[in-house]
Amino acid sequence: MIDSTTTSARHILTKVRGMETSDGAGVRLKRVIGQPRLPDLDPFLMLDEFRSDNAADYIAGFPEHPHRGFETVTYMLAGRMRHRDNKGNSGLLAPGSVQWMTAGSGIQHSEMPEQEDGLMWGFQLWVNLSAKNKMTTPRYQDIAPERIPEVDIDGGRVRLLAGRFGGMEGPVQATETDPIFLDISLDASATFTADLPEGHNAFAYAYGGELSIGDQTVERGELAVLSHGTTLSVRANGATRFIFVAGRPLGEPVARYGPIVMNTKAELQQAFEDLRSGSF
Ligand code: CO
Repeated sequence: MIDSTTTSARHILTKVRGMETSDGAGVRLKRVIGQPRLPDLDPFLMLDEFRSDNAADYIAGFPEHPHRGFETVTYMLAGRMRHRDNKGNSGLLAPGSVQWMTAGSGIQHSEMPEQEDGLMWGFQLWVNLSAKNKMTTPRYQDIAPERIPEVDIDGGRVRLLAGRFGGMEGPVQATETDPIFLDISLDASATFTADLPEGHNAFAYAYGGELSIGDQTVERGELAVLSHGTTLSVRANGATRFIFVAGRPLGEPVARYGPIVMNTKAELQQAFEDLRSGSF
């Protein structure tokens, strides 16, 4: 049992830098989760940061591809991306917006830049689903920037995409992992603190400037994997921007191949069979 009067501060377990790679039809990006040094962080299967003002790095986009068994979360900082799927859904991801897509039993979609020059910057996060929800009905939550609450804190600002912070609730409707997704901007030497569910796995990824947690610093482009605990305190070393993401771990076996993530090899084979036969 957890004594509700006990608090414990989260500290850094390990730090990981993104690995340069390309995906889709040749989009250059940094893979932070989902690479050899950090294959996953239950329930998170992947985190990519894409950031370029050179159109050649992103113009080819992500033509039609399938997903099954998990959720994809796209958070745009700059630029525009058009999303279309095989069921006739379409949406424009604009700067500051988030799309939380529950692929569930399967969708086939494309994600293509809707610009020919300028900065394209954002994140894609994959969140796993448990065995009982892998084949759930696909669902989209396309959330416009103005629907995302911004909470002012001393020396900074928190955009609340998912979960609770500062007495408010983010617009993403809770999925089974009770995710928390915050985008935090801090002025030099400001501090961010939060109360958190003790057992959620969590990370902080610095995408502008540098921060400290305990006696360790996290540089721009580094992801800090955090220990369990009920509180988090982050100090800004100069102006800094970072995302903080947490979720309840599923603790299930993971069988993955490209954009399909199931529990067993047999389920993976079934998924590719469904793709071939057109019943996806
Ligand atoms: Co996709």
